[in-house]
Amino acid sequence: MTASTPEWTPAIERELAPLYDRVKHVIPSVEWPVHGAYIAAINALKKERNAIILGHNYMTPEVFHCVSDLVGDSLALANMAVEAEADIIILAGVHFMAETAKIINPDKTVLIPDLRAGCSLAESITGADVRLLKQKYPGCPVVTYVNTSADVKAETDVCCTSSNAVQVVESLDADRIIFLPDEYLGNWVQTQTTKELILWQGHCEVHERFTAAELRDYRTSHDGIVILAHPECPPEVLAEADFVGSTSGMINWVKDRRPPRVVMVTECSMSDNVAVECPDVEFVRPCNLCPHMKRITLPAILRCLQTLEHEVTVDPEIADRARASVERMLAVGRGQ
Ligand code: 13P
Ligand code: SF4
Repeated sequence: MTASTPEWTPAIERELAPLYDRVKHVIPSVEWPVHGAYIAAINALKKERNAIILGHNYMTPEVFHCVSDLVGDSLALANMAVEAEADIIILAGVHFMAETAKIINPDKTVLIPDLRAGCSLAESITGADVRLLKQKYPGCPVVTYVNTSADVKAETDVCCTSSNAVQVVESLDADRIIFLPDEYLGNWVQTQTTKELILWQGHCEVHERFTAAELRDYRTSHDGIVILAHPECPPEVLAEADFVGSTSGMINWVKDRRPPRVVMVTECSMSDNVAVECPDVEFVRPCNLCPHMKRITLPAILRCLQTLEHEVTVDPEIADRARASVERMLAVGRGQ
């Protein structure tokens, strides 16, 4: 099957009218016919292929709300991948997320719509780096953030995400732990545990751009604003926040507490996605985009379903070792 551009017809417009009503606050009407044609084509082909789309919280609203079957943070996506019954998993997120889905579903076809959707944290460390650290700190268990390659996960004792990092560190019977690769997430976890963490200097190119001065400005220029921040931000930024949590942690905070005004110090699309469900909340939006997440567009997803490209593969020997570290994390994350 070859890739083709879908058509916008009156029948599709009628069929998608209830969906547009839901997202109209965040998708301008002038864009809807273009998005809508792709949305209809993707949702039809997804059924034909018995495919499921897992969408990260940083997807744009037309991907997040209109074609994703399940959405969440990276821990939730890993859990969903375990439970997925479809023949094909399309990961609307970045490469390490698709690789994690493949590692825990070796018999399923896992596709990513754009192979260039990487991550500066995953790029910051290799399996060889971890082997050297293990030689330097013998006997110290290794915890790595899921934002890493399969090679790095294969050298890891337990993976973690930003929503369970403290829990994972606390679950280990060791006083000193190698925690990789996000230095800022590690700094934040260090404030929540008495265990000593040995850190690496990896950073997220999106979250490292926020500054404490910028957050203080939001506080003075927007009365009563609540500041929520992702733990990938530098420590001086987190010190200005009212709440620190994973992408889903922040979303749940807003949904449960309904602050009148909020700023989510994280990737920009997330506020659009939450705004759809919380029209009563005013979102102040610093627009830091993740260039990797933004490669996952509706045309790329349709192309992926049409051509079944790009399949994510992992060397079976590396996948077996990486799977053990992801499964240990899922056991901690599920409270087992
Ligand atoms: P979450 O685990 O909070 O979804 O974060 C993933 C990520 O890439 C944040 O930049
Ligand atoms: Fe990686 Fe940062 Fe993009 Fe998340 S936002 S995928 S950590 S570069």
